[in-house]
Amino acid sequence: MNDELILKMKNITKSFSDNLVLNKVDFELRRGEVHSLMGANGAGKSTLVKILNGIYTANSGDIIINGEIANIKKSEDAERYGIAFVHQELNICPDLNVAENIFLGNLAKNKIRLFNNKETIQKAQELIDMIQVEMKSTDMVRNLRAAEKQIIEILKALTTNAKILVLDEPTSSLNEKEKDIFIGIVNKLKSQGVSIVFISHFLEDVLKISDRVTVIKDGVNNGVFNAKEISKDVLINAMMGKAAIKPMKREIYIDDATQVALELEGLCSKNKFNNINLQIKAGSVIGICGLLGAGKTEIARAVFGLDSYDSGRIKLFGEEITKATPEKMMKNKVALVTEDRKNEGFVPLLSIRENNTLSIIRRFTNKFGVIDRKKQKAFAENLADKMTVKKSSVEQNVVSLSGGNQQKVVISRCVASNPKIFMLDEPTRGVDVYAKSEIYKILLDMAAEEVTIIIFSSELEELLEVCDEIIILKKGEISGRIHTSETNKNELLSMIS
Ligand SMILES: Nc1ncnc2c1ncn2[C@@H]1O[C@H](COP(=O)(O)OP(=O)(O)OP(=O)(O)O)[C@@H](O)[C@H]1O
Ligand SMILES: [Mg+2]
Repeated sequence: MNDELILKMKNITKSFSDNLVLNKVDFELRRGEVHSLMGANGAGKSTLVKILNGIYTANSGDIIINGEIANIKKSEDAERYGIAFVHQELNICPDLNVAENIFLGNLAKNKIRLFNNKETIQKAQELIDMIQVEMKSTDMVRNLRAAEKQIIEILKALTTNAKILVLDEPTSSLNEKEKDIFIGIVNKLKSQGVSIVFISHFLEDVLKISDRVTVIKDGVNNGVFNAKEISKDVLINAMMGKAAIKPMKREIYIDDATQVALELEGLCSKNKFNNINLQIKAGSVIGICGLLGAGKTEIARAVFGLDSYDSGRIKLFGEEITKATPEKMMKNKVALVTEDRKNEGFVPLLSIRENNTLSIIRRFTNKFGVIDRKKQKAFAENLADKMTVKKSSVEQNVVSLSGGNQQKVVISRCVASNPKIFMLDEPTRGVDVYAKSEIYKILLDMAAEEVTIIIFSSELEELLEVCDEIIILKKGEISGRIHTSETNKNELLSMIS
């Protein structure tokens, strides 16, 4: 890296109606530099990079590229300046295959410039193999998991040969191994002189790969730091204006006499998971971890009745549930936060008030079915505050919230339904450090009230911090179960891989 500036965003101001989201923000990027943007959920990070991509137009301020004022009004303009993006919301076509998605707009052509399917598929497979992910370039994207979709987005950006790569939470779904591969790619690009803007809530990753970090707090630039010279605590303070919450270790309330809340007996689903036998006691906090493809999401979905399974039994508090459906499970007080928040987690065009109370609307209606809006609003406000949702009001549509805040609404909605068994698939993805602690605090409080909490996650450190026990999945089978007090991250890592 040298000191040559390739990009400068100067005095950028942006508001959505009367909500001032960015206030005179400066940001600069050098050639061959990895420059991270950090900040709490809703700080304005994604808005800043969307302005660079021409998706939003700033109210005022300049974008300067290679010393000249750039005129970026739409995505094609940014492309001409050699800037490629991976946005926080994935942007891929479910009905195309992996290869077509990677090379979208850039498909291999033969001599007479006709689309060459075979070459496209082969080139895509080479890229996939390079990053050592088990994925076929002919797979339909519809059937893929969140992490695989995220990998496709990264590969898509790589094929553009951009000079500037802007990556908005590209690793939120990736596990440790995939993240390492990603970091390798970033270092290689850097050595080729590519400049990278990296947005992430993973403090360790940010400190590991960045040259500099710009912190945005409530829409203003709250400091530019040399990554080598700072600690996590300095970053958290700059982002949140306060120190991190210390994790609380809970008393474990479970003993031999405690009732089994969820039992799985020989649960099988071809190509997904095999012979899952599991007993989870009421009020326990259980983590389920495993690599991509180990079967976490698949088991969660089968238990909740979203996907069918081939054989085996599911029992809730000793009673067998045949032909599970989400309706049946919800009636039995089971809730699931799925990993796919955009499609399954919330109703985008409804407000926070409506989303928070969607599953419990009867609590707010009188005998004529008329909703008591005041009561509903008070409930939604209380819950949103508890979950630290950053909003203009509870009437704001969930679609216009920042990514992390959308995730908080998804979790709120399930919390509101008062579940007895609460399953969460990658619940803290995209959530900032502070809000993570708040969410876990709420989950642990629920566990103290005998709610059974089951967290499917690739965040081993978090699982170690909050869970009583961790169950390890490997290639669709349970390969271990261990008390968190008796293990550590390295041991878990070697157990899952
Ligand atoms: N299209 C929109 N309409 C109205 N408000 C918006 C819109 N997009 C973003 N906002 C608001 O702008 C603020 C900043 O959002 P932004 O998405 O930039 O946050 P972020 O820093 O990327 O957060 P996260 O870490 O959660 O992704 C939020 O308060 C959000 O509600
Ligand atoms: Mg964002």
